[in-house]
Amino acid sequence: MDHFNFKDGELFAEGCSVRSLAATHGTPLFVYSRTTLEQHWFAFDNAFGDYPHQIHYAVKANGNLAVLGVLAKLGSGFDIVSGGELKRVMAAGGSAGKVIFSGVGKLEWEIELALDVGIECFNVESMAELERIARIAKARGKVAPISMRINPDVDAKTHPYISTGLKDNKFGVSLERALSCYEFAHQHPNLSVLGVACHIGSQLTELSPLEDAMDRLLEFVKKLRTTGIEIKVVDFGGGLGVRYQDEMPPLPDQYWQALLTRMQAHDLTLPVAIEPGRALLGNAGIMVTRVEYIKAGEVGKFCVVDAAMNDFIRPALYGAYQEIINVDQEPDSKAAVYDVVGPICESADFLGKDRTLAVKPGDLLAIRTAGAYCFALSSNYNARARAAEIMVDGEAAHVVRKRESLEDLYALESLIE
Ligand code: LLP
Repeated sequence: MDHFNFKDGELFAEGCSVRSLAATHGTPLFVYSRTTLEQHWFAFDNAFGDYPHQIHYAVKANGNLAVLGVLAKLGSGFDIVSGGELKRVMAAGGSAGKVIFSGVGKLEWEIELALDVGIECFNVESMAELERIARIAKARGKVAPISMRINPDVDAKTHPYISTGLKDNKFGVSLERALSCYEFAHQHPNLSVLGVACHIGSQLTELSPLEDAMDRLLEFVKKLRTTGIEIKVVDFGGGLGVRYQDEMPPLPDQYWQALLTRMQAHDLTLPVAIEPGRALLGNAGIMVTRVEYIKAGEVGKFCVVDAAMNDFIRPALYGAYQEIINVDQEPDSKAAVYDVVGPICESADFLGKDRTLAVKPGDLLAIRTAGAYCFALSSNYNARARAAEIMVDGEAAHVVRKRESLEDLYALESLIE
């Protein structure tokens, strides 16, 4: 469900004409829909109903301050993986007390900052990290709330680069090792055990790997109980997929029913936490790009656009399919098959391959499902300024990140003699 729809053959983002947005703000351009984002958040929140739960939005999917601010206003929590993300959350009005800190390589200063502002929980990924947090907490006279991130060794059946719950992945600790971590934390005066956590991967389109992971996690919670360690919250991570092409990912309701069924099967009624990123933002954004050239190759045709892999790297990095559509539907125009490519000097610089499109230079195209992991992964490769970001809210369009200037790109650099 999103709010990017055609009216009289022209694409609109809520009440705003995408063509007008491109004319005013230039291209490439990211456009987010506030209403879509809010609806997605409420789809999760309503799915849980009265059951005690917390949604921690995974900031890495899209850390724009306006996105974080909209979610903070809804009362969302946040899942962060760096001190930089923590700063962003606080700058956007998020509450530190609803922040959980994930990630395998938490730095000293990041742990210090997180302790000083009083985050809700550290999701800890190794004994070494647990010891580091304990040492820093002791030095600052604090008690750090912790959950261990368990690696349940299940196959999430997603792209290998975004699969995180197998034992050869760098993430989390095995169930066996987790036990000694909890014993250490339980006895340490500067640590307090809050929960258990896991996150097995991203863009999951089936529930069964999640159910397997839940079973292992809940079994472990019961085992901990027998050693006198009480778990107060179970964090199932993020990972719910979205539709890019023809995937049919479970809906938040189905996801919650599966979690609840597993909890009941284990006779547990613990508060739950989740860390969705893509499912909240993915379909709440598009990227708009302009066709520059149509080029005939020896084998096929290329549609050269003004956006490139620096703006939008998912196709190049994961071979990801992203739907590409015309912003203006022109019924009489003739379609052909194109590779949609950008101006960057790499053969991996494509946004879509073998796409049937009716296009000519000057036309606008929109890439759908561009709200998550698109701007967030963008770079300045080939000295290209990053795109502007707009958030629409009904008929209002807010510039939530200005287009970078070319001078911005070297503002931190200096010449030497
Ligand atoms: N929690 C943790 C600990 C994570 O590592 C992640 C994502 C999430 C939550 C949120 O997962 P989500 O609900 O968004 O699936 N750049 C890749 C995705 C990388 C995901 C990394 N971790 C992509 O563009 O597909």
